[in-house]
Amino acid sequence: MTPGGKRFTGGQRLLHWSMAACIIAMFFIGVGMVSTVMPTYVPLLATHKTLGVAIFVLALVRLGVRARSGAPPLPADLPAPMRLAAHLSHYGLYGLMFALPLLGWAMLSAGAYPVVLYGGLRLPAILPQNPALHTLLWNAHYYLAFAFFALVLAHVAAALFHALIRRDGVFEAMAPLGSRTGGPSSR
Ligand code: HEM
Ligand code: HEM
Repeated sequence: MTPGGKRFTGGQRLLHWSMAACIIAMFFIGVGMVSTVMPTYVPLLATHKTLGVAIFVLALVRLGVRARSGAPPLPADLPAPMRLAAHLSHYGLYGLMFALPLLGWAMLSAGAYPVVLYGGLRLPAILPQNPALHTLLWNAHYYLAFAFFALVLAHVAAALFHALIRRDGVFEAMAPLGSRTGGPSSR
């Protein structure tokens, strides 16, 4: 738990909201680039790879900050199944923030495609060339991207449930601005 505090720290909130914007953009860039036969595929893919690697680096920073600063506890009266769902979904979101970029990088490596980011920065291959593995990883990246999107939608629904129905201060703990003003169940 944040020492003496009831909200995520300013740095945690900044990381949460800037990464949320980047990840949501990645879903649309991903689907947009594979749906086009126009030359825009090339810059979209470059943006997708660069932003994806940036998300991976930010996820590492975020995990370090989380380990150091902790998180405010959930309201004491939150039912056990909701508490479990909150914890499991957060593990899932963190896992996918790492898995998707790694799968993207690994699938390009297995397909022997160069992983070149903005500024000509070329990342090394993390797997040897292997067409069967490339197909497997491409499918994993595809299905997990949509699983990630579904989990984010469920997460947003839960956040709105806390903000509008339970009004228990959970939303305010992560809100970009304002102070935490929960009901009697908040700390
Ligand atoms: C949070 C990170 C990421 C998310 C949410 C994400 C999401 C997506 C989505 C939604 C698609 C489209 C799937 C489809 O409709 O077929 C896609 C495709 C793709 N992504 Fe990612 N991605 C991420 C990171 C990366 C990274 C880091 C790389 C490479 C370094 C990468 C490389 C690719 C490639 C090569 C494709 C397929 C392009 C094609 O088949 O033409 N992705 N991604
Ligand atoms: C791609 C989008 C998003 C991702 C990947 C994401 C991820 C996460 C993660 C991993 C946590 C747990 C924080 C921790 O314990 O360190 C969290 C907390 C939270 N998120 Fe998101 N989030 C996203 C978008 C959103 C949006 C759009 C909203 C609001 C509408 C939101 C509201 C919240 C709230 C209120 C919390 C605090 C929950 C608590 O204290 O248990 N998130 N988010």
